[in-house]
Amino acid sequence: SNYFSTKYYYLSIARDKMSLEEAKKLAAYRAVDEHVESGYTVGIGSGSTVIYAVDRLAQRVTEENIKVKCVPTSFQARQLIINHKLALTDLEISPHLNVCIDGADEVDSNLNLIKGGGGCLLQEKIVASCAEQLIIIADYTKHSCLLGEQYKKGIPIEVSPLAYVPIKLKLEKKYKGDVALRMAVNKAGPVVTDNGNFILDWKDFDQSLNWKTVNDDLVSWPGIVDTGLFIGMASKAYFGLKDGSVKTQS
Ligand code: 5RP
Repeated sequence: SNYFSTKYYYLSIARDKMSLEEAKKLAAYRAVDEHVESGYTVGIGSGSTVIYAVDRLAQRVTEENIKVKCVPTSFQARQLIINHKLALTDLEISPHLNVCIDGADEVDSNLNLIKGGGGCLLQEKIVASCAEQLIIIADYTKHSCLLGEQYKKGIPIEVSPLAYVPIKLKLEKKYKGDVALRMAVNKAGPVVTDNGNFILDWKDFDQSLNWKTVNDDLVSWPGIVDTGLFIGMASKAYFGLKDGSVKTQS
């Protein structure tokens, strides 16, 4: 019986992982189909869900012959655009975007987001702020009522390297919780963002905080470059569900 329960345990993990990837793909395909038209300049977010959005975009360029230009939000996004032979542009050439499609670490009931699990929050926020609409694509694990309910890795905060200790101490004192410098996977040093900064992950915060007020405050602190709190920025979210359907929230 041990053999069988172990076997079924691993089978169920494999099935969940498959449905998770399928859910990401469903959400990404739907969002690209419903929000991208020929002639659009499109912001390309970062992370594992966005990979499916770029796949679909490239498919539509080939099959439907739509014309799009893409603005990346990270080194990863730039590579995705280049590898799919999509037209690459930037905010210097194309400062106005019709739409930006990006993932999120958590989405609350008011469409406020935690982003930056992949450390790309600064460029993601800048590019999203230049778009008429920010469309979020995610799987069913990302949806919650209050921020911090599902996602336990904390709110990422991008800081200037020289300020990481004072910002950590000030944040823990003023808003409580636990703030840690994000380290590289091999623990040899801190994660350095595409912009040469460090990331602090703020965990165990009070879930009833007013995130608009907190974010406005944090971005005014010298040394904080930006936060992974995206408040009032997203216009719609697509969630791929376990049963193969897609739920939208706007
Ligand atoms: C990166 C991000 C990503 O959008 C976020 O981490 C979600 O990633 P994934 O689609 O892999 O779950 O904010 O900075």
